[in-house]
Amino acid sequence: MTGTGNSFRAATWMAEAARENGTDARVIPYERTSVEEEVEAGSDQLLGIVMPTHGFTSPWPIIRFAMGLPRGRGTHAFVAPTRGSVRIGKVCLPGSECTAGYLIALILWLRGYSVRGVRGIDMPLNWMSLIPGLHPKNVEVIRGRAQGQVSAFMAPVLAGSRCFRWGSFIHLLFGLLLLPISVMYLLFGRFFLSKLFFANFHCNGCGLCVENCPNGALRMWGDDPGRPYWTFSCESCMRCMGYCPEQAVEAGHSIGVVLYYVTAVPVSTYLLNLLDDSVPWLANLKGTGAEWILQYPYFLFSLFLAYWLLTHLIRIPLVNRAFTYTTLTHLYRRYHEPDTALRDIKVPKDLSPR
Ligand SMILES: Cc1cc2nc3c(=O)[nH]c(=O)nc-3n(C[C@H](O)[C@H](O)[C@H](O)COP(=O)(O)O)c2cc1C
Ligand code: SF4
Ligand code: SF4
Repeated sequence: MTGTGNSFRAATWMAEAARENGTDARVIPYERTSVEEEVEAGSDQLLGIVMPTHGFTSPWPIIRFAMGLPRGRGTHAFVAPTRGSVRIGKVCLPGSECTAGYLIALILWLRGYSVRGVRGIDMPLNWMSLIPGLHPKNVEVIRGRAQGQVSAFMAPVLAGSRCFRWGSFIHLLFGLLLLPISVMYLLFGRFFLSKLFFANFHCNGCGLCVENCPNGALRMWGDDPGRPYWTFSCESCMRCMGYCPEQAVEAGHSIGVVLYYVTAVPVSTYLLNLLDDSVPWLANLKGTGAEWILQYPYFLFSLFLAYWLLTHLIRIPLVNRAFTYTTLTHLYRRYHEPDTALRDIKVPKDLSPR
């Protein structure tokens, strides 16, 4: 799985390492529904899962993908999440895959695969709704280091040994400490983040982002020209933002503030207060997980409704400019993996996204 091409590039280096080792190798985008058919259970194949880290864990589509794989019957596998590294001065700070690698490794193991190794690969941080894309010079240095990490990992894995480094356990430990944040990310964060996106006034309605979203999360909406609409299937992979030729995709920080206040209305507490007299035992649910469960449908519905209204408003040029000039992403450099063109990671037309 790849958003801005980092994981695709890392997977390509892994495939090259395998070929140099005399092994036939292919990089297959996870969206391809035929992946399951290509895994021949119990054979001498080696399956590698390479994906970005999102919210200190694995992206949800990869968790689902791993759970849907055919039973492994001893097929060998490895997991290599890429993570976001930055360079400050001459120092490269590593990202952290946290639970991403071992969660997928655990699923694979439970499905009968023999996991040979787990290793996070430091690629340039691509979270452009948070920080600007890195300077090309820093990207080059980080990529160089990542190639070294890939070689060091693939050598033992291709030789048939196991490769679990102490460092990866430290990232796992860190991930376990941050597990509540990862769970919140999967339940709330990713839906919230998907609704920060909008197309600014430079959007010409070309539809490239819609065609190339790996999750089929974008719809063209309205006419003359149409504009992309971000649905809840968006995983914030940043592909649309990184590859839009007009740099028209923004993540609205001011929109975020509006959405935060709309979704934070404590509807669950009102509901429980309302039912207090008629159903007294409900009062005990206040402050428990059950209150969160009650709040959840409101969170999703209010998020959907508020974003739908914003989408209409944003068609008014003045409103669009107001939101565009009040988001930092308007000033941010865009990033995608420098050697990876959109055509390299395009979702094949004949295959519907998962
Ligand atoms: C929404 C989002 C969340 C992210 N969370 C993390 C994280 O928890 N830890 C980390 O090291 N990098 C994180 N990153 C950075 C990416 O995992 C990293 O840049 C990765 O190489 C991107 O790969 P891709 O281009 O194949 O999607 C995040 C990026 C995004 C967009
Ligand atoms: S956001 Fe960019 S890629 Fe998408 S339709 Fe507009 S101009 Fe085209
Ligand atoms: S809408 Fe954009 S950020 Fe969201 S999954 Fe699709 S390409 Fe990625």
